[in-house]
Amino acid sequence: MKIINKLKKIGEELTSLAHIIELLHWDQETKIPKNGAIERANQIAYLSELYHKKSTSDEIKKLFNEINFIDEDLIDNEKYSVVDRAFLKRFYREVNRERKLPTNLVVQLAKETSLAQAVWHEARVKKDFNIFAPSLKKIVDILKEKADKIGFKTHPYDALLDEYEPFMNSENVKNIFKPLQMGLTEILKKIRTSNSIDTQFLSQNFSVKKQDEFGRTVLKDMGYFNDSGRLDISAHPFTVTLGANDVRITTRYDEASLFSGLFSDIHEGGHALYELGFSKNIQGNILATATSLGIHESQSRMWENQIGRSYKFWEFYYPKLKKLFKNELKDVDLYDFYRAVNNVSSSLIRVEADEVTYNLHIILRFEIEMLLINGDIEVKDLPEIWNDKTEQYLGIIPVNDSEGVLQDVHWASGLIGYFPTYALGNIYAAQFYNKIKNEINDIEKEISKGKFNEILRWLRNNIHSFGSMYSAEELCKKVTGETLNSKYFLNYIDDKYKKIYKY
Ligand code: CO
Repeated sequence: MKIINKLKKIGEELTSLAHIIELLHWDQETKIPKNGAIERANQIAYLSELYHKKSTSDEIKKLFNEINFIDEDLIDNEKYSVVDRAFLKRFYREVNRERKLPTNLVVQLAKETSLAQAVWHEARVKKDFNIFAPSLKKIVDILKEKADKIGFKTHPYDALLDEYEPFMNSENVKNIFKPLQMGLTEILKKIRTSNSIDTQFLSQNFSVKKQDEFGRTVLKDMGYFNDSGRLDISAHPFTVTLGANDVRITTRYDEASLFSGLFSDIHEGGHALYELGFSKNIQGNILATATSLGIHESQSRMWENQIGRSYKFWEFYYPKLKKLFKNELKDVDLYDFYRAVNNVSSSLIRVEADEVTYNLHIILRFEIEMLLINGDIEVKDLPEIWNDKTEQYLGIIPVNDSEGVLQDVHWASGLIGYFPTYALGNIYAAQFYNKIKNEINDIEKEISKGKFNEILRWLRNNIHSFGSMYSAEELCKKVTGETLNSKYFLNYIDDKYKKIYKY
């Protein structure tokens, strides 16, 4: 067997193993009886260790050596097809990164983060950061060591960020975030001095069963299900890939909140369509994954925001929703409903934030993480700096740690370097959507008829099909002719909200 085929086979085995682990996760979050949890955790830990061993095995290293592959940038372009070249580069990069991490460090991180979950939870319930601080300090110390082992040119944050947003560094992120923050602050000022939106009608109970019925209708129209997906309930919504033709999503509904379940459905649906769209010639290959989390998030955010929160979308769907909720929505017309969907208000909690303020929550976390991982601030300083920055960026101050520094589970899970991908996703989404609007005639007319096949076809052809054949930066350039910048996002926000708020 040719060496590249041997490597591909190992890649396929790793992909299978990853999908099996995901299936156990999916079951754990959706179906498992309570008493099954402990053994399940052991099963997942066992397979995860197997995955780590297999992906860092000497066999892989030996095969790369045999084809004289010593650097991802130095690949002989003549010898391999485009797909094979991309495969070798990506595989080498991932293996190389994994191999730099000593097993004891990986185990230690897994242990501390799994212990930290309960501690974080308790701290959050008791609204007391001091309870969580010692756990977080341990995690931060391990992550600092992890960054050192992986290596970086200028900032330790780069080593961590690279795991979620490959090829991007903190300097790039800073350069993208700076104008974004300035632009958003300006827009927010104008919105604050405009008349507020009446959202009174949302304070009612909306049957969960009907919400589910409506969500499923939208997902079906988006092109999801099709015998390749399913929707279940879990504590936190997520998307999980179990195979090329089996990508599942979860959601949660709340009677008191008409929007949270619905927009979760659309959001996860967008993630799932990406995972279902990898082209046949990379299926099973390690390239059949998202090229970066920012690109992944762009696919969910575009469906959720550019499409799902647009006037045209509701032109089609509001009459349907109104039919389901006859009494609750009887006095609310389409325009008022649309405005309520897009109500902007500074809130302390990121996951409840609107399109305008959301990225400010992310910039705040990014700046704090940079300081923390570089040792410029210490864990004990976090509540104070968090509250100061919240006041500075959002104009409000948390009254306790639970609505401030303790609100997200990410740090307890060891996910430092992850947050920027949320905002990058929003920015990619706007830049891609601008291109779609130029390339698909009457896209808005299509949306106002509940027709999304043109959009999905465009996304498949231009983004989904490639998986991780191109880096996020290459993909962005290929699709839009430019590298990522916040201009399109700011234009999108300004155009939309100046009409809504009449500023
Ligand atoms: Co998402």
